[in-house]
Amino acid sequence: MVKQKKVTIQNLITKKQKGEKITALTAYDSTMGFLLDQTGIDIILVGDSCAMVVTGYESTLPMTMDIMAYHTAATRRGVSRALFIADMPFLSYHINPDEAVRNAGRFFQECGAEAVKIEGGRHMCETAQRIINAGMPVMGHLGLTPQSIRKFGGYTLQGKTEEAAKEMIRDAKALEEVGVFSIVLEKIPAQVAKEITDAVSIPTIGIGAGPYCDGQILVTHDILGLYEKFKPKFVRQYAQLAEIIRTACTQYINDVKRGDYPNENESY
Ligand code: KIV
Repeated sequence: MVKQKKVTIQNLITKKQKGEKITALTAYDSTMGFLLDQTGIDIILVGDSCAMVVTGYESTLPMTMDIMAYHTAATRRGVSRALFIADMPFLSYHINPDEAVRNAGRFFQECGAEAVKIEGGRHMCETAQRIINAGMPVMGHLGLTPQSIRKFGGYTLQGKTEEAAKEMIRDAKALEEVGVFSIVLEKIPAQVAKEITDAVSIPTIGIGAGPYCDGQILVTHDILGLYEKFKPKFVRQYAQLAEIIRTACTQYINDVKRGDYPNENESY
């Protein structure tokens, strides 16, 4: 267990300046938040990936503000050290900047968020700026933005052409300009991620974006082998918890059936 001071946005910027890697993972409940917080991780994101790995939807699109607020507040109760970020779900910031500010505010007032994440580039700059002007730090998200999979036609690699890569660099610079404190880069070629990382002074956090980003984020259910529906190439599995859970629960079932559980010590 690593004892560490509270992580701030300034700490992350200093890490980029010093060339120290930033680490980030997702959590959706208090127990996982508590465990991750003890590891020394820099950022805990309550991602809308919750819709897929917890709620069982095929995409993040069905996620709502109320459900995200529930999971964010629950996770917050386990987290005290890592920088704690809430992911704004589909349509919670797209209608107009006023609604975006109100919804971001819910994460701060009701759920203890320290920052929010929104997907999109230049077209989201006005919204990002309004949220920031209200005192709420914003993390950006470029590349394969999962809330736009219907537009992309699936979970496909983004930024493949020279023009698309240039557009993404422009987006990253524009987000930096309006005060976004960090940008997630998802599923883009490693060289494009490198160009973006070199072009901005704020930290880039990659997921499927190669080794040159200032930090990395993955979905915790993926690295623990809990989510078996699909495993992207960029995921490295550090445990196979799904199999451990099945084995443990089968043992319990067998013990009950055999009359072996509960024994004398486990009874009153
Ligand atoms: O929803 C999510 O979990 C995310 C990250 C993995 C970046 O957006």
